[in-house]
Amino acid sequence: MGNNLKRIENLIDNDKLPRHIAIIMDGNGRWARKRLMPRTMGHRAGMSSLKTVVMICAQMGISVLTVYAFSTENWRRPRDEVDYLMSLLVEYLHKELNELDQNNIRIKILGDYTSLPPKCQQEIEDAVLLTTHNSGMVFNIALNYGSRNEIIGAIKNLGEKLLSREINIDSITEEMFSSMLYTAGSPDPDLLIRTAGEMRISNFLLWQIAYTELWITDRMWPDFTKEDLLQAIWDYQQRDRRFGGLNK
Ligand code: IPE
Ligand code: IPE
Ligand code: MG
Repeated sequence: MGNNLKRIENLIDNDKLPRHIAIIMDGNGRWARKRLMPRTMGHRAGMSSLKTVVMICAQMGISVLTVYAFSTENWRRPRDEVDYLMSLLVEYLHKELNELDQNNIRIKILGDYTSLPPKCQQEIEDAVLLTTHNSGMVFNIALNYGSRNEIIGAIKNLGEKLLSREINIDSITEEMFSSMLYTAGSPDPDLLIRTAGEMRISNFLLWQIAYTELWITDRMWPDFTKEDLLQAIWDYQQRDRRFGGLNK
């Protein structure tokens, strides 16, 4: 095990790291069920994976890490589970904030967090404010995030600007549209990781992943390790990204 980690570490080309990694952290519930535990315990175990991955990415020099923590569709889950996820988030930010800050990490939230419980909102605002001047890795937490909702928000914003004649229709470009999304200012993801094997996107970053490399593993999120992350990065480095053109 340890040997394999060393081997992959040595294989990775540090000059060709993905600038932006996005992760759909899935499989917490299945991880727990397999162990005859309540789903909430799976979410708690998943929190450790998150801690590990954030620190490794920051230390490697990844510019942006985006994780899918709660989708606009996850409100369909039982109230207890939703409440638990929210309190886990507060706990995570509370416990990790200083370490994140000391590592020069800047926390941003993708999604409308104003509909979350007040305690959550407060914790989020503290975390975002404290780290706002940090110049290291941007750590995006997608929370109450849905890509379609994000796109509709941008369209409404554009509509208002058109109606007030602040812009005209010809000035609408891909760049302008991108700048109206929650991810404004960040490059599009180079690599999207999904754990727990589902071959779908689940309303995550639909606009932003037009040319992202996808990497899906059967590993459940609580079992995701440094070795898995490095394997994903190494596999990414072997891909031939043509962007519609031809390879050299
Ligand atoms: C991912 O794990 C965490 C969230 C979606 C919040 P799941 O809770 O979706 O776990 P599975 O897919 O049921 O195994
Ligand atoms: C995607 O996982 C959302 C998060 C990881 C937060 P889901 O478990 O909600 O996705 P589906 O329902 O399997 O598509
Ligand atoms: Mg799931």
